Amino acid sequence: MPLPQLDISGQLVFDQLLHLATFSDDPNPAVTRILFTDQDLNARAYVKQLMTEAGLIVREDTIGNVYGVLEGSDPTAPAVGTGSHCDAIPLAGAFDGTLGVIGGIAALGALRDVGFRPRAPLEVVMFTSEEPTRFGLSCSGSRAMAGALEGDYLATLRDVNGSSYLEAARGAGYGAASLDAMLAGARRTRADLGAFLELHIEQGPALEAEGLQVGLVTAIAAPAALAVRFSGDGGHAGAHLMHLRNDASLAAAEFALAVERIVLATGSEDTVGTVGRWEVSPNAVNSVPREAALEVDVRDVDADRRDGVVAEVLAEAARIAEARRVRLETRVVSQDPPAASGEAPLAALAAAVEHLGLTSRRMVSRAYHDSLFMAQIAPTAMVFIPCRHGYSHRPDEYASPEDIERGVHVLALALAQLAGD
Ligand code: GLV
Ligand code: MN
Ligand code: MN
Ligand code: MN
Repeated sequence: MPLPQLDISGQLVFDQLLHLATFSDDPNPAVTRILFTDQDLNARAYVKQLMTEAGLIVREDTIGNVYGVLEGSDPTAPAVGTGSHCDAIPLAGAFDGTLGVIGGIAALGALRDVGFRPRAPLEVVMFTSEEPTRFGLSCSGSRAMAGALEGDYLATLRDVNGSSYLEAARGAGYGAASLDAMLAGARRTRADLGAFLELHIEQGPALEAEGLQVGLVTAIAAPAALAVRFSGDGGHAGAHLMHLRNDASLAAAEFALAVERIVLATGSEDTVGTVGRWEVSPNAVNSVPREAALEVDVRDVDADRRDGVVAEVLAEAARIAEARRVRLETRVVSQDPPAASGEAPLAALAAAVEHLGLTSRRMVSRAYHDSLFMAQIAPTAMVFIPCRHGYSHRPDEYASPEDIERGVHVLALALAQLAGD
């Protein structure tokens, strides 16, 4: 199939990304946009506006995934999708996830502008909450879409205010009569989706360091998340003698160092572990910490090795709790398999890269993405563009208009191939 000549402006997408960044709970350049908050709703409104302006048909599902659809000549053909997320962890930047949404809209808009009529429907999706910030659970929109989220499990989750997921969804104008109905309303299957592509910043330094323009992702590493809570009895910081204490934060400190030790003991640089969230209570200078609630993130390209680390981390938490006479609660929040890219979408991306004469390499994604779950229902692949110094999940995250233009162009040409004409 001859590939269409497209007019894509990286500068325009860049400007739209910076406008989207203004919907933030922290002042720019930091971006904080948490699931179903006012700023999340403002961002959704802007995304729907851009979809409409690009000539796409907008629809939303019960969990809040937002679709922009370019109809195909064969409405019965499984759709070809692209997309990513617009939520942002606290004090993040303007490009993570958002590029795949705004860039996806630009790609479909550019195809439509030149009169490209796909055979299969083409759709761009803004997934609900790829980030785990509010409920501890990552990728809730794409998990629900892939049928990888149980209602019974989702019912156990609460945010810091004690709200349930369904309450939060309803507050934002989504949800359904029950959690199960909400999940059913977001569900798609292999019959609905023929292929999926995600454009993303690399979030690592390899492309920039090697002077390459594009990365073709062959696999996504396996992530796991654990919640760990140590509880002691607290007490007065002056009057409570050291030998009588069971200080929850000291158990947490010992545990965090143990996580680092266990990860390093694998001897593999592909294994990483982070105790990224700490909440100490009562968090007062003159009080012995009574509770420490932690969240732990463990990843590896090798799922078995990742599982081994998770098991050791949990065993070490139990040992520390016993030695320090604190109570322990642990919960495996998620422990997902890795994803391998599909042949057809990877080949479509590679053909687009070749057509445009870009430099590229194949690589593994160490970060997770909604593609981890889309890969469970459709052949899926990702394309990365460089980001400055590999920075991500920080306010100085940056991708240039030139790199963005190349990424969107590759995406658009690959989508055109997969959707046919
Ligand atoms: C997602 O943002 C991740 O932590 O990889
Ligand atoms: Mn992220
Ligand atoms: Mn992302
Ligand atoms: Mn991510």
